[in-house]
Amino acid sequence: MAGLDPAIRNSARSLDARIKSGHDKGGEWSRRPVEGIGRWLLAADVPEVQAVTEGSTAATVVEIRDLSLVFQTGDGPVAALADIDLAIGRGEFVSFIGPSGCGKTTLLRVIADLEQPTGGTIVVNGVSPNEARLARAYGYVFQAPALYPWRNVARNVTLPLEIIGFDPGLRAARAAKYLAMVGLEGFERKFPWQLSGGMQQRVSIARALGFEPDLLLMDEPFGALDEITRDRLNEQLLRLHEATGKTVVFVTHSIAEAVFLSSRIVVMSPRPGRIVETIDSDLARGRTLDARESPRFLDIAHKVRAALRAGHSYDD
Ligand SMILES: Nc1ncnc2c1ncn2[C@@H]1O[C@H](COP(=O)(O)OP(=O)(O)OP(=O)(O)O)[C@@H](O)[C@H]1O
Ligand SMILES: [Mg+2]
Repeated sequence: MAGLDPAIRNSARSLDARIKSGHDKGGEWSRRPVEGIGRWLLAADVPEVQAVTEGSTAATVVEIRDLSLVFQTGDGPVAALADIDLAIGRGEFVSFIGPSGCGKTTLLRVIADLEQPTGGTIVVNGVSPNEARLARAYGYVFQAPALYPWRNVARNVTLPLEIIGFDPGLRAARAAKYLAMVGLEGFERKFPWQLSGGMQQRVSIARALGFEPDLLLMDEPFGALDEITRDRLNEQLLRLHEATGKTVVFVTHSIAEAVFLSSRIVVMSPRPGRIVETIDSDLARGRTLDARESPRFLDIAHKVRAALRAGHSYDD
């Protein structure tokens, strides 16, 4: 982390501290979903690890074996995850779906090295989650956009690139490319508070894409949006996945969203989160929202609902 501009380091640290202290609670700054953003942004550039991950072309990007996680709380232990076995292949679009509190975010945060498992093993891009984070092997889209209100849109997107030490020309080119990809060209100089919630979320997607990670972790990125905006962003995300071949791990509550986007859907049980079933989806590439009315789509959605029921997600 030597060589990092102290002002950038301090502002990212203070964001985490403000979130942790509850100072930024409420509204767009609700506490839990953005906890860890400073840690993600500040991941140091470690050349030897970078080489490992860049050279890693293994077919399996995430490999999880017999993983469990128990949180120690003031009210006693909380078992959040149990018996998780999962392998995610390069280029897959995998969704985690399950009832509120079943451990979807926790599992995503374990992959991102923002939570530590208490049992089992996990490998990300051929290395530990910690090494993968330090090597910036993944981009993370938090449930709340978590943008810096005092930085304009372009400078929010370029923040991780400033931390890595990219030169200004390359930073500007990346911001322009990825803001255009999420349909926000012309908004570079606006501030987050001048944008709608959907536009802010698109800025945070552009930020996660900006350093061109092969792995994209997305925690209910469209959960707070209206249905029309969500539909449009679902289509954009699918096009992006088809165009880039990135591996995407996506958390959602929505059966329709999971089926529309995913190549594989991981259905989780209520806490402690276990994998009830993984369901393959073979909907055609280049599909549009109309695919949601096709018999194949309805068939896969039915399987997901049945697996949720089998996992007791609908029980009181
Ligand atoms: N830092 C923590 N300390 C203690 N318990 C936690 C912590 N983080 C999560 N939990 C608990 O672990 C369980 C799983 O939480 P998690 O946020 O992963 O659920 P989720 O499936 O993402 O839910 P939602 O769909 O509502 O976002 C919950 O019971 C939650 O209260
Ligand atoms: Mg969650």
